[in-house]
Amino acid sequence: MAPLPRSILVVGSGGREHALVHALRRSPSQPRVLAAPGNAGIADDVPCLPVAVDNIRGLVELVQREAIDFVVVGPEVPLSLGLVDALEAAGVPAYGPKADGARLEASKIYTKEILQKYRIPTADAAFFEDADAAIAYLRARPAPIVVKADGLAAGKGVVVAASHDEAAAAVQALLALHSRPEPSAPPARILIEDCLVGEETSLLVVVSGRDYVILPTSQDHKRVGDNDTGPNTGGMGTYSPAEVVTPDLLARIDREIVRPSVDAIAAEGIDFRGTLFIGIMLTADGPKVLEYNTRFGDPETQVVLPRLRTDVVSLLWAAAHGELAGVSLDVRPEHALCVVIAARGYPDRYPKGDVIQIPDPLPPEVTVYHAGTARSAAGELVTHGGRVLGVTALGPTLPAAAHSAYATCERITCASKYFRRDIGARQLRRESV
Ligand code: AMP
Ligand code: GLY
Repeated sequence: MAPLPRSILVVGSGGREHALVHALRRSPSQPRVLAAPGNAGIADDVPCLPVAVDNIRGLVELVQREAIDFVVVGPEVPLSLGLVDALEAAGVPAYGPKADGARLEASKIYTKEILQKYRIPTADAAFFEDADAAIAYLRARPAPIVVKADGLAAGKGVVVAASHDEAAAAVQALLALHSRPEPSAPPARILIEDCLVGEETSLLVVVSGRDYVILPTSQDHKRVGDNDTGPNTGGMGTYSPAEVVTPDLLARIDREIVRPSVDAIAAEGIDFRGTLFIGIMLTADGPKVLEYNTRFGDPETQVVLPRLRTDVVSLLWAAAHGELAGVSLDVRPEHALCVVIAARGYPDRYPKGDVIQIPDPLPPEVTVYHAGTARSAAGELVTHGGRVLGVTALGPTLPAAAHSAYATCERITCASKYFRRDIGARQLRRESV
């Protein structure tokens, strides 16, 4: 393999990118790590350069100016805008799929077509441009039923409708919201799919062509409120391992979903080198694919990476160079749990600019990853986004990790502080019976 990189740029500004920065800096190879654009917490750790994630030309120029020799891309937007293609053209290796692979996240209809073509277990679905046809179809299916916009929608493109009327309203709303911006653009499409019932799990897979490594299991909590109530968010908290995914079940998921997915992507002519994040519903009928994302999860990364003893620089570098065959992981036995501190009102309207105070020092088992944070003109740490911090703790058991993470959440002060009180509760309940 080519010698490990000396300088690495992490693209993005969330908790996921802060966790990536920490993991890369733990490497024995001691690379210089930079971030663009980063956030206030990342800037406390490494140099941050003010280039936005959708400024592809600006990012390539930055990489050349700073003599970066490896780029790790966090979010989906630069991937689907072709950042990795542009870096390849400039001769710079990157971890993350090119635009053809990123389409697996950017188009839910494209993904569904691949799932159907390769007979990978997933919910039955149909696609529509026309609202009347969509509504006629969904009224003939049992409710609840799921309506999805085709394109990237920052978590707002999916409606799990309890009734046919709610689903019909969602069809109108999503088609109006995603209607073509200009006459030459393709028409907006929506997907209607059967509702799957079960527990959800996030499987992060480091892929390099036909080779892959499955990262430790995790579960996210997508709804904003306790007991999974309220609107969907980007994720309010995670834990790892997800013990609902027993070794036998993981072997089944590997056989029925991961291997067929990786082979299908390769068979479609895509040389995928990056994270395939498979959202899976564990139904009574077996595991089924909800979606593919083509990047690390946020906040899954905040619990998965701290559990790796494996050098993350070597892992991602090997994947980017097509040299993942034979790589296996060394995973710490500890449990990790991450509680997201959000600004009250997220995912709708929320305030910005509230002063945040984080205890210093933190207990050794706790790390606070920054997401939507910034520095005020006076240099104070302030809120700057919906999800503000990810408080991650490691512990010998899940209750121990939860106890440490929640104790730190209580000690963090911020006027708009909001967090779920039940991260990990489902697994904790299962353990106590
Ligand atoms: P997606 O972006 O497709 O993963 O959808 C976002 C969330 O909506 C998922 O994490 C699930 O919680 C829910 N969801 C999506 N599709 C379905 C489905 N077919 N049945 C039940 N829930 C779903
Ligand atoms: N936490 C879910 C996601 O990253 O999409």
